[in-house]
Amino acid sequence: MTTTTAFLDGQVALVTGGGAGLGRSIALHYARAGAQVMVADLDDAAGAETVRLITEAGGTARFRHTDVSKDADARALVAGTLEAYGKLDIACNNAGVAPPATKLAEIDDALWRRIQSINLDGVFYGMRAQIPALIENGGGVIVNIASILGQVGFPGMAPYVATKHAVVGLTKQVAVDYAEQGVRAIAIGPAFIKTGMEDNLDPDSRAELESAHPVGRMGEPEEVGSVVAMVSAPNWTFVNGGYLPIDGGYLAR
Ligand SMILES: NC(=O)c1ccc[n+]([C@@H]2O[C@H](COP(=O)([O-])OP(=O)(O)OC[C@H]3O[C@@H](n4cnc5c(N)ncnc54)[C@H](O)[C@@H]3O)[C@@H](O)[C@H]2O)c1
Repeated sequence: MTTTTAFLDGQVALVTGGGAGLGRSIALHYARAGAQVMVADLDDAAGAETVRLITEAGGTARFRHTDVSKDADARALVAGTLEAYGKLDIACNNAGVAPPATKLAEIDDALWRRIQSINLDGVFYGMRAQIPALIENGGGVIVNIASILGQVGFPGMAPYVATKHAVVGLTKQVAVDYAEQGVRAIAIGPAFIKTGMEDNLDPDSRAELESAHPVGRMGEPEEVGSVVAMVSAPNWTFVNGGYLPIDGGYLAR
C-alpha cells in the first residue's frame, strides 16, 4: 500500500459507519498504516466497497453488518472482530446522522429519539461492548467521532448538538473510569467535511458555510482519516479523555 510508516502494524481496528464519508477514509487510513480492519455499517454494499478498496490496495479488511443503535449488534461486532482477528486494539465509533434543520420547539419525539439512538446510544452501546475486549487485550484506544458541534451550537441542530456534546462527555468518562486498565479515549471534532451531504447546498449557503472556517473552505475526508489513524497509534499513551478539533480553525474564532 502507499505508506511509508506502518505505525499500526499488528493492530486490530474496528470502524462503525465505515461504508462512507469519514468512516471509509478512517478505515482506509487504518489499513494503510498496517492495521487489520473490521468495517461495520448498516449499508452492506457501501461496507463491502470499503473492504474492496482496502484489499485492492493490499490491506486486510472484513465487513460486518451493524446497526449501532442496537446493543446486540454492538456486542456482535466486537465478538465478530475477536473471532476474525483474535483481539481488539482500536475502536472508532464514527457512525452518526444529522437531522433536517429544525428549531428546538418544533422537534417531535420521533426525530429526537432517532438522532439520540444512533449518535448517542450507538456510542454508549459501542463502548460498553468494546471496553471489556480492550481490557482483555491489555489496553487500547477508543476514538469517538464527535463534531465541532460537540462544543458549540448551530442553527436548527439541537438533537445533533446535544448528542455530540454528550459524546465528548462520555469520552472523558472513559479516561476517568478505565485509564488504570490501559484504555484511552479521544473525541474528534471535525468541522464541515465534504462527504456528499453538502452536495445539495445552494451557492449562497455553501459560501456562508465555507467562510465560517478561517481556512475559507470545508475539509476533505482525507484530512480527518489521516489524523484519526495517527491518534490511534499505540504510542500516544499519555493522550486520554481529550477533544481534538479538525476544523480549519472554526472553533478558534
Ligand atoms: N461530514 C461532516 O461534515 C461531519 C462533521 C462533523 C462530524 N461528523 C460526524 O462524522 C461521522 C460520519 O459522518 P459522515 O459525514 O461521514 O456521514 P456519511 O453519511 O457520509 O456516512 C455515515 C455512514 O454511517 C452509516 N450509518 C448510518 N446509520 C448507521 C447505523 N445506525 N449503524 C451503522 N452505520 C450507520 C451510513 O450507512 C454511512 O455509511 C458522524 O458521526 C458525523 O456526525 C461529520
